Amino acid sequence: MKIMVTGGLGFIGQALGRRLRDLGHGVVLVDSLTPQIHGAVPQVSAPDGVEAVRLDVRDLAERPDLVDGCDVVYHLAAETGTAQSMYRVREYVSVNELGTAALIEAIAAAGHRPARVILASSRSVYGEGAYTSPKQPGMLLQPAPRTPAQLAASRWEPLGPDGTELVAVATPEDLPFMPGSIYAATKASQELLLRAAGPALGFKPVIFRFQNVYGEGQSLQNPYTGIISIFFNRARQGKDIPIYEDGLESRDFVHIDDIVDGLVAALDADIPDGATMNLGAGVATSVIQLVDQLLMSGGFDVPVRVTGQYRVGDIRHCFADLTQARRLLGFEPKVSLASGLDRFCAWAGSQPVHEDRLEQATAELRARNLMGK
Ligand SMILES: NC(=O)c1ccc[n+]([C@@H]2O[C@H](COP(=O)([O-])OP(=O)(O)OC[C@H]3O[C@@H](n4cnc5c(N)ncnc54)[C@H](O)[C@@H]3O)[C@@H](O)[C@H]2O)c1
Repeated sequence: MKIMVTGGLGFIGQALGRRLRDLGHGVVLVDSLTPQIHGAVPQVSAPDGVEAVRLDVRDLAERPDLVDGCDVVYHLAAETGTAQSMYRVREYVSVNELGTAALIEAIAAAGHRPARVILASSRSVYGEGAYTSPKQPGMLLQPAPRTPAQLAASRWEPLGPDGTELVAVATPEDLPFMPGSIYAATKASQELLLRAAGPALGFKPVIFRFQNVYGEGQSLQNPYTGIISIFFNRARQGKDIPIYEDGLESRDFVHIDDIVDGLVAALDADIPDGATMNLGAGVATSVIQLVDQLLMSGGFDVPVRVTGQYRVGDIRHCFADLTQARRLLGFEPKVSLASGLDRFCAWAGSQPVHEDRLEQATAELRARNLMGK
């Protein structure tokens, strides 16, 4: 097949591009090489045997030739920082939503249109995701985002309507959108745009909602997202690890190899129009557990501080219900967190040391009242 990957020189795009090439497909990576991810002078190059075009995804409408003849498009280009999206609102809406609009226009103008457009969406569209109440076990609830007053009182767990602390359960895809950040809202919008355009333009939209993806090749210089990279970068410089809230907040950390397995399985699997699938490890890991494992894998001995700070827009817990991806793609995550972190640390330790800019990113949030304590 001929396949285009937008955002193809990013973390997930490069790994996907290599795998598609190895499977014998013709691959074009389209990427603007943003300085936040790639530095002021990008060092990244396309994997051997893969074509790369430096282009802002918002300019794709002027380059329908890039889409013309493609059988499948993976749409990965995006601004990805949850907290940063709360103050760089126009930039996030522009790249993520107008970028998707430009892709749709390019498809409309192409002679041979892709049969599938596969979107990298995010679990952030669920907001807090699925919970149950100890008072009504078995009933799925989707709590509203935690309020500033609740966070200021260090009441970390989401609350039910009667004020009861709720318990997180695996989040299924049929939960409605409840974005708690601008980033999340733009990912929901990307899904809606592609779903709306697909039937008219003759492509099948396939929506993946990723949990927290980590692994070799992840940007080590972006202080706005990717806690594993951020913490690794601090630990290797002997700096302490600051953990927000009480450290018991949890995420579903999934290794890049598993994500690429799922993305590649969607190339030609027999799946219904508009199929929407979570991709994750399906396991909740608290940030404290993550840090313990990361420090062990990296052989670091640095102080760990649970700070009680919090960021507006952060969720408390979310982990994936993988039933759909298992049923439609035969997806099964294979890389355990321990072995994935061992591999990440071995790779990251061989990379140049980058300036730690976490304090700068935190100061930006604080200046905009987006950071508590
Ligand atoms: N990594 C995760 O944990 C995660 C989780 C959920 C969803 N996602 C989604 O997966 C996709 C890929 O994420 P990633 O982790 O590889 O991020 P990344 O930042 O490593 O890669 C994104 C790439 O997009 C490029 N890009 C940004 N703006 C662009 C523009 N205007 N035009 C062209 N290219 C542009 C960047 O240069 C970068 O190479 C994103 O859509 C993201 O929202 C990622």
